[in-house]
Amino acid sequence: MRFDIVTIFPGMFDSVLQETILKRAREKGIVEFHLHDIREHTHDKHRSVDDTPYGGGAGMVMIAGPLCEAVEAVTRTGNSRRVFLTPQGEPFTQKIAREFAELDQLILTCGRYEGIDERARKIIAEQEISIGDYVLSGGEIAAMSVIDAVTRLIPGVLGNAQSISEESFEAGLLEYPQYTRPEEFRGERVPPVLLTGNHAEIARWRRAQALMRTMKRRPDIFEKLELSLDDRELISDFSQPDNTRG
Ligand code: ADE
Repeated sequence: MRFDIVTIFPGMFDSVLQETILKRAREKGIVEFHLHDIREHTHDKHRSVDDTPYGGGAGMVMIAGPLCEAVEAVTRTGNSRRVFLTPQGEPFTQKIAREFAELDQLILTCGRYEGIDERARKIIAEQEISIGDYVLSGGEIAAMSVIDAVTRLIPGVLGNAQSISEESFEAGLLEYPQYTRPEEFRGERVPPVLLTGNHAEIARWRRAQALMRTMKRRPDIFEKLELSLDDRELISDFSQPDNTRG
């Protein structure tokens, strides 16, 4: 898969793309990253990428020309999508990350300043994505989040495919609590069921924990779940105060 990143700050990506799984995925030849500097597409001697807004008001607006030309200069290959990172976009989720991981090319455009000229929007974006209801000073950090979440889903990037299927959001639930050695830490013991070696009981406990954690922490997600009869039973079993199974 190929990521093309259109930005006025290509240098921001240096360390992120040269560390962690992104580096390994690149070295394995599974992903390619190509950075494109919007400033290379300016036509004035100051290499301006922004200007004051028509109608007045605070801040600067990114000029349509350089932005569109930078995106249009990216050669499209295979199944490709142009995505613009903006707080006004569709909320980014694990589901969207999975869809993106199926593409051959993702062209990510990062906005800056107070926004972009509205006329550029339909040219640079087939889809607009927000990584959350807060305002970053630009789309770069949002693009990095998308790149990370997508890259780790591409087959061959992570060693253990099972670790993806069990993690938060993959099954529509938050992940169950995890423990490792020592058996006791500051007076708190590992839930006994995890030491039994009884895989069926452990799986039941984990499912119940994931369900209850989602119910408590993310009622918005929990409400939309279609629970099986088994799940309902698990919740009622495990939420009994006298339950000593974990
Ligand atoms: N640019 C600025 N804030 C953003 C956000 N929350 N998501 C995506 N792009 C952004």
